[in-house]
Amino acid sequence: MSVCAVKAITVTSMCGIIGYVGPRVAHAVVVEGLRRMEYRGYDSAGAAVITPDGISVRKKAGKIGNLDALLASDPLPETGIGIGHTRWATHGGPTDTNAHPHVSADGRIALIHNGIIENFATLRAELRAKGVEFSSETDTEVAAQLLGDVVAGGADLADAMRAVCLRLEGAFTLVAMDATDPGRLVAARRNSPLVVGVGEGETFVASDVAAFIEFTRHAIELGQDQVVDVTATSITVTDFFGNPAESHPFEVTWDLSAAEKAGFDWFMRKEIFEQPRAVADTLLGRFTPEGALTLDELRIPEAELRSVDKIIIVACGTAYYAGMVAKYAIEHWTRIACEVEIASEFRYRDPIISGSTLVVTISQSGETADTLMAIRHAREQKAKVIAICNTNGATIPRESDAVIYTHAGPEIGVASTKGFLTQVAACYLLGLYLAQVRGTMYGDEIAAVMSELASTPDKIQQVLESLDQITDLAARFIDTKSVLFLGRHVGYPVALEGALKLKELAYLHAEGFPAGELKHGPIALVEEGTPIFVVVPPQGRDQLHDKVVSNIQEVRARGALTIVLAEEGDDEVTPYADILFRLPKVSTLLQPLVATVPLQMFACDLATLKGFDVDQPRNLAKSVTVE
Ligand code: AGP
Repeated sequence: MSVCAVKAITVTSMCGIIGYVGPRVAHAVVVEGLRRMEYRGYDSAGAAVITPDGISVRKKAGKIGNLDALLASDPLPETGIGIGHTRWATHGGPTDTNAHPHVSADGRIALIHNGIIENFATLRAELRAKGVEFSSETDTEVAAQLLGDVVAGGADLADAMRAVCLRLEGAFTLVAMDATDPGRLVAARRNSPLVVGVGEGETFVASDVAAFIEFTRHAIELGQDQVVDVTATSITVTDFFGNPAESHPFEVTWDLSAAEKAGFDWFMRKEIFEQPRAVADTLLGRFTPEGALTLDELRIPEAELRSVDKIIIVACGTAYYAGMVAKYAIEHWTRIACEVEIASEFRYRDPIISGSTLVVTISQSGETADTLMAIRHAREQKAKVIAICNTNGATIPRESDAVIYTHAGPEIGVASTKGFLTQVAACYLLGLYLAQVRGTMYGDEIAAVMSELASTPDKIQQVLESLDQITDLAARFIDTKSVLFLGRHVGYPVALEGALKLKELAYLHAEGFPAGELKHGPIALVEEGTPIFVVVPPQGRDQLHDKVVSNIQEVRARGALTIVLAEEGDDEVTPYADILFRLPKVSTLLQPLVATVPLQMFACDLATLKGFDVDQPRNLAKSVTVE
């Protein structure tokens, strides 16, 4: 099986979006298009059409089957223009009211949105001051009401869209229609994807070619900060200032299944490439204009956070390794003792918990039974519980005192990738917030860490663009029976995560160790040709760096084949690296955000070469909802 060589695509869709204008029955095209994007999983679905009586909307929380049932009992009128949306909740729980499309107060504008509008609260206050009333908790409704307000002031829909886009901060794809102009859709994008499907006398706009691939393979990919104004027979692309803009026509060569993966061979590989955007979205909007760190979903009073005298992080699998990484940062920044526990062990060891214990649970799915049982035990012992979770409205956040959502978007591959990186990023936000509340870091120190965190998406992207080396490397290990991974400090959980990916995907024996532990027994495993990955800390911390270099020499002297991950410019490791993979320079605590990526890809490539199902590995499930 050939390894899919793909370009580094750094787009991600948290939601599914589609708009249609043409001779077909719009609601049928729209709902089928949403179904084509069903693989994403989502919290709600909705559709809207323009009729002679105005805009007609049907929307429902839950899977698309719930929308189907609603439409069966209360169908949308048959017209030639419509929009549809499946929501992966970010702001506001997965409810009927929060589902898209959202409609302006005067009922004239319907809008759908993918992404995060960072300054929605400020804009909402401005509109409320003008007497606009809101029915949902979403950032999207703010955009709909703002657009409606500008159109009501006399602006043309496309001009209004451009004016609104210039006021929005964050990541967004918007599609809107105006009840008084039933042959036209206007869409815009910044950071979230948008493609136009060019049919014969019909036009589609969507976040994903999967939505219209059965009707046309002629597509146009829109660039950053562009607005597209379409009818059934015309397409006009401008920038946000109304200047004509270049667009990029292309032919969709994928079949539907590949289209769902945006051309990647596996969802996991697509999600590895989505990591820059996922980390960026997780960090988005976490700083107030005054420069203070803010976590809008955190509902524990600062006074209680100041009284915390112990932190226990509880999670499973990859999420547990994210917690191990977080421990180093949280203890360093807050000076609070921080334990990290396997959830299935936690409540059976009769842990020492009190009202001043803060339990932090980490879970991508928010449904892991072991972690959920740990939360219940902790709360029975009066501890406060904060959830780090990627699934809005899941059981774990609902049963916690507070939640910090990662904004990785749906993670379809069973092996977690962007879930891990965004969990680390979210844990760092929590650590910095605790340091801010407790005064254990100065504001400028926090700002400095946030500034470097904000640069990590670009560093991750840099790693993504050098992964061909990893694909070549995987081919050398097709018959390997065992692989070891070594790291120190935050590199140790990275070693554990690298080993877990290889176990999960390539069904190989793989084991991660603290590099300093090898001489206490495991080094007996090393023989001629044993492949050993070593994560080398940045050179800034001589203690750690030099000791790891010694560990590499120890294993190499016993015949190991060393695959060394070290930062650019670190020439000390070169003599001992049989294979050297360069990492971008980052500070010690941030290295997991770049060092993990090659290990993810190695496991993905080796499993692909072995002909295994990377997205659904044997014996595993995406969410382990049994203890
Ligand atoms: C990671 O690749 C695995 N799929 C697994 O270890 C996973 O991290 C663990 O089951 C926890 O899942 P959660 O984050 O959804 O709670």
